[in-house]
Amino acid sequence: MDDLLVQLVEISKTFPGVKALDHVSLDLRPGEVHALIGENGSGKSTLMKILSGVYIKDEGKVIVNGKEMNFQKPRDAQDAGIAIIHQELNLCRHLTVAENIFLGREFQNGIFLDKKHQIEEAQKILDRLEVNLDPNSRVSELTVSKQQMVEIAKAISANANVVIMDEPTSALTIKEIDDLFSIIKVLRKQGKGIIYITHRLEELNAITDRITIIRDGQHIITTDFKNLSADDIIRYMVGRELKEKFPRIQMPVGKTIFEVKNLSAGKAVRDVSFTVREGEILGIAGLMGAGRTETVRAIFGADKKDSGQLILNGQEIRIDKPQEAIETGIFCVPEDRKRDGLCISMPVYQNATLPNMEKVTHRGIVNTKKEIMIAENMVKQLTIHTPSVFQIVKNLSGGNQQKIVVGKWLVKPAHVILFDEPTRGIDVGAKVDIYNLMNQLKEQGIGVVFVSSELPEILGMADRIVVMCEGRVTAELDADEANQEIIMQYATQYM
Ligand SMILES: Nc1ncnc2c1ncn2[C@@H]1O[C@H](COP(=O)(O)OP(=O)(O)OP(=O)(O)O)[C@@H](O)[C@H]1O
Ligand SMILES: [Mg+2]
Repeated sequence: MDDLLVQLVEISKTFPGVKALDHVSLDLRPGEVHALIGENGSGKSTLMKILSGVYIKDEGKVIVNGKEMNFQKPRDAQDAGIAIIHQELNLCRHLTVAENIFLGREFQNGIFLDKKHQIEEAQKILDRLEVNLDPNSRVSELTVSKQQMVEIAKAISANANVVIMDEPTSALTIKEIDDLFSIIKVLRKQGKGIIYITHRLEELNAITDRITIIRDGQHIITTDFKNLSADDIIRYMVGRELKEKFPRIQMPVGKTIFEVKNLSAGKAVRDVSFTVREGEILGIAGLMGAGRTETVRAIFGADKKDSGQLILNGQEIRIDKPQEAIETGIFCVPEDRKRDGLCISMPVYQNATLPNMEKVTHRGIVNTKKEIMIAENMVKQLTIHTPSVFQIVKNLSGGNQQKIVVGKWLVKPAHVILFDEPTRGIDVGAKVDIYNLMNQLKEQGIGVVFVSSELPEILGMADRIVVMCEGRVTAELDADEANQEIIMQYATQYM
């Protein structure tokens, strides 16, 4: 077909020890949103990196507007009208919106930069996207979603006909997701093709025309989105029926393990109190910006506390830095894994034992054998897809990196574990692995605090739910008296 924007034909790609793609095909029509769906490590990002010139394919054909291409670098793909918006945004934070949009393609008047012209052109592009943004504002002052819009504007300014979005919504609020969808609809009306990757299957309804599902580097199905039910999608993704999305276990609730009393920290945490008890998972719900991450960070000692008390097993404790939290048995699985959770240029086995060095060190000498054993256990327990524990973490898929962030705390005796959005970017099957892990901790009498923006998983897994809004606790609910409407009501109480 001549009118296809892109045809990827039987693409294969092998990394050492991993066949990431095995003869995968996908095409893109003008004006369509084509969802690319699959488990962590199934090859989605790899396929898109081949289309955008980041990786070079081993086999297969890349055809753009009917012409076979042989991309050797990202610039080749850009010149062919293909733009990719990676999950980690690539903007220069200290430059303005206009400067970022035209980075490397600045408007010149002789040898001088034609600032005025550049700002006018940037404004035109933003208008075309129907985005309300000042071309003069500095990118560092924008929210993540606005930054993402700058990325999209940059793509459009380079005359891209194909826009690839790799998990664009994982850090956006509900309102921001709406804004992104409006832009997607504008692009679609202009006849551009969009390839859209996400693990939040609920959001597909709003925008998807066609869907392609891949599994273990193989093409499973391409069809009109309306032909598949949510259960069909999951079945094609994981290759089996998923018995229970939320494997809740019921247990008698025991004594109070941990108490947070009147905690305040900066503007984001105001007089927060809650308790964590034996045999339960305490959920903390709220919208993005409600102060949940800041609460967790203040407890863990990553941010300064202004006032308040922490009580562990009846005794007041003091935590001024993370090291002290770890020493008292309070651990945190952070939200931002790249920044706080992983050494991405180190192999899996060294990351697995990072918080646990004393267990594998004897008289200052690291027992590598023991390290490897611990890591191998973790890989098995969490079904982490990696050719071996010697793989560099950077080379794992996003979701599998997240599993390591979670897994590395589980080898160490704990009193309380604070999980901040532990399933972000994780596929449906792997989410169940993480829930089961939280269940195991609950059975062992460890205090589990589970912060999440996804109401279904909070309702599905938490036994008690604390709701926050604007830095304050607005409600504490038993799981059986809570539902989405009630939580949303409290989550927006002061808005
Ligand atoms: N540069 C690399 N070196 C070695 N292996 C790699 C590299 N990039 C990807 N892989 C491997 O290729 C496979 C596919 O990874 P890819 O990132 O495409 O998955 P994905 O579908 O995007 O997953 P996720 O949903 O977790 O982001 C994985 O097994 C991954 O570990
Ligand atoms: Mg990916």
